[in-house]
Amino acid sequence: MKDQILILPGDGIGPEITFEAVKIIKACQSAGLDVELGYGKVGGDAIDATGHPLPDETLDAARGARAILLGAVGGPKWDKLEDISRRPEKGLLGIRKALNLFGNLRPAILYPQLASASSLKPEIVAGLDIMIVRELTGGIYFGQPRGFSERDGGVRYGYNTYVYDEEEIRRIGRVAFEMARKRSKRVCSVDKANVLEVTMLWREVITELAKEYPDVELSHMYVDNAAMQLVRAPKQFDVIVTGNMFGDILSDEAAMLTGSIGMLPSASLNERGQGMFEPCHGSAPDIAGQNLANPLATILSVAMMLRYSFDQPALAARIEAAVGEVLDQGLRTADIAAPGDRQVSTREMGDAVLAAFQAG
Ligand code: NAD
Ligand code: IPM
Ligand code: MN
Repeated sequence: MKDQILILPGDGIGPEITFEAVKIIKACQSAGLDVELGYGKVGGDAIDATGHPLPDETLDAARGARAILLGAVGGPKWDKLEDISRRPEKGLLGIRKALNLFGNLRPAILYPQLASASSLKPEIVAGLDIMIVRELTGGIYFGQPRGFSERDGGVRYGYNTYVYDEEEIRRIGRVAFEMARKRSKRVCSVDKANVLEVTMLWREVITELAKEYPDVELSHMYVDNAAMQLVRAPKQFDVIVTGNMFGDILSDEAAMLTGSIGMLPSASLNERGQGMFEPCHGSAPDIAGQNLANPLATILSVAMMLRYSFDQPALAARIEAAVGEVLDQGLRTADIAAPGDRQVSTREMGDAVLAAFQAG
């Protein structure tokens, strides 16, 4: 049976950006990628159709797929759902957990053409190439107990549990060290070991693991300092490894160094090379349905899919080169446009990347 790619467009700008990325997948099929495409519902889209953010049908299709391309989930329409298990975000979290997609790669790379779109001075971001390795199936996102309750006197409280065991820390640490070996051989582990026991253990386990990678230089940093260093001198970082919540926050911060959150792709992988690929950004309700969203993070996520789930580095590089080519042509969606640039729509950007890919 052919490998399957499951497309989950989701909510907000999700359908618009996945539409552009699917064009590139189809062009890859024409270039010899032997896969079948299927579609499913997730998030608010699935709630509207079935009452549940992750219907069994979608989960079964996800389990059977080699790779999943997800647009984005969530939006104001579903924000009033107080039952967390029925919110759109639960659809995304449910797939990550069910498929054990613990290794989340979020590369923050500055395309040189976008140096002026970054909120930092060009000399601070020129040549930026950071890989954030975020643990994705544990930590405070999934720890038990969690919930809402009430104390005597009717005072309400909410609580979550930040927990990691050493096996979870070791397996994400390995992803980071292996990644560093293919890059500049530096890992910075980000924690809050001055306050939280769970990250004291994190630091200890990562330090033990480093002995197996003597060729990789390990440093540690508290998360508050890391947030500051990312905007002070981001090029000091090569690979950053961190837990689920810190990684979520730092990757949005790093995205802005590259010009826009609309530029940051991601891969979420399990131990079998099965993966979900999605832009790091959300459903952008403020611009949804207006043909304004930047589709490049999603298109670059397809490149990550080809590299990590299909072992097709040449096709992946061709997609990345096509993105570089359209940026060279001066095409910019609104989020990355500077005065004098040619501002284009989501659709025009997708078409231009497709044309550059086909010519490449
Ligand atoms: P967001 O990332 O959706 O938007 C933040 C800002 O960035 C907005 O101004 C938006 O217009 C802009 N933006 C985001 N993507 C863009 C793109 N491709 N092109 C141009 N501009 C872009 O974050 P938010 O507003 O905090 O969240 C909105 C909804 O998305 C929430 O329901 C949230 O839970 C959800 N969300 C989903 C994912 C996901 O599906 N992976 C990720 C983050 C947030
Ligand atoms: C992301 C998103 C998700 C996360 C939300 C929507 C559950 O912000 O993929 O970065 O927090 O992981
Ligand atoms: Mn996020």
